[in-house]
Amino acid sequence: MSKPNVFVTRMIPEPGLARVQEACQVDLWTDELPPTRDVMLEKVRGVDGLLCLLTDRVDDELLDAAGPQLKVVSNHAVGYDNIDVDAATARGIPVGNTPGILTDATADFAFALLMAAARRVVEADAYVRAGKWRTWGPSILLGPEVAGSTLGIIGFGRIGQAVAKRAAGFNIQVIYHSPRPVDNPPAAARPVDLDTLLREADFVSLHMPLTPETRHLIDAAALAKMKPTAVLINTARGPVVDQVALYAALKAKRIFAAALDVTDPEPLPMDSPLLALDNLILAPHIASAGAATRDKMARMAAENLIAGVRGERLPNCVNPEVYED
Ligand code: DGY
Repeated sequence: MSKPNVFVTRMIPEPGLARVQEACQVDLWTDELPPTRDVMLEKVRGVDGLLCLLTDRVDDELLDAAGPQLKVVSNHAVGYDNIDVDAATARGIPVGNTPGILTDATADFAFALLMAAARRVVEADAYVRAGKWRTWGPSILLGPEVAGSTLGIIGFGRIGQAVAKRAAGFNIQVIYHSPRPVDNPPAAARPVDLDTLLREADFVSLHMPLTPETRHLIDAAALAKMKPTAVLINTARGPVVDQVALYAALKAKRIFAAALDVTDPEPLPMDSPLLALDNLILAPHIASAGAATRDKMARMAAENLIAGVRGERLPNCVNPEVYED
């Protein structure tokens, strides 16, 4: 029996790729950069399954280009704002993602950014390398205290709660605001409205999905409510922050610092004014980049793809309504 045809839009870690290659006839995009839109539209034509990354836009046009035989779209990510899920659902196509697996790696990295921004680790490194370290000084590179501070977490799902767990070990009080209902929140964390969170938090960490409601949730008005000593951390999605407003707030020192693992757009253009700010730490969307985590993500994306092309239920499906009669 011939194997189902699939397009895999990038080299994914071996454990996942090997699984896909065993079960499917694979057209694999091996470049470091994503396929262009035209290439995507061409490559998906006639495939049974698509394994894509968060850099690939999957919408009506792409699903039409693929054709009616397409059985599954499997995203190598937990977030799926790159996919028009309604368009897939309208065609009865299940969409897979990789929840749970990257919770700890992402929470670790959010915490790394929190600590680095508060204690100015990146600036300190640059200071030493630039030969500015002439003596120990009582006021050199001061930053806000971490122990005893208040962390405001926006979006209190798996990753937000994993950040809260880490905060407990640092004697940090946690307040949170979640647009969605939260199951079994930790007793020590206090739910608050968004305004209270912005006004009370010393650190604000973002963990909500990108949706029309959360786009630019952190805008000039939100930043103006934050303490002048506050730090903003974003490991969610770039567009949840209005970057123009963030630049103005950091430049004018209306907040102390920010640390962004995600930006809008990605990659951040080299002429972005954000690059000139000392009180901003930037990373290239690597919060989930634990080696074992990425292997597991690839395996889960592979299992979703394979189940889909076989007409079986996806182990992790974001639109289970496609299975309803
Ligand atoms: C995701 O999975 O959504 C992250 O942003 C990348 O790992």
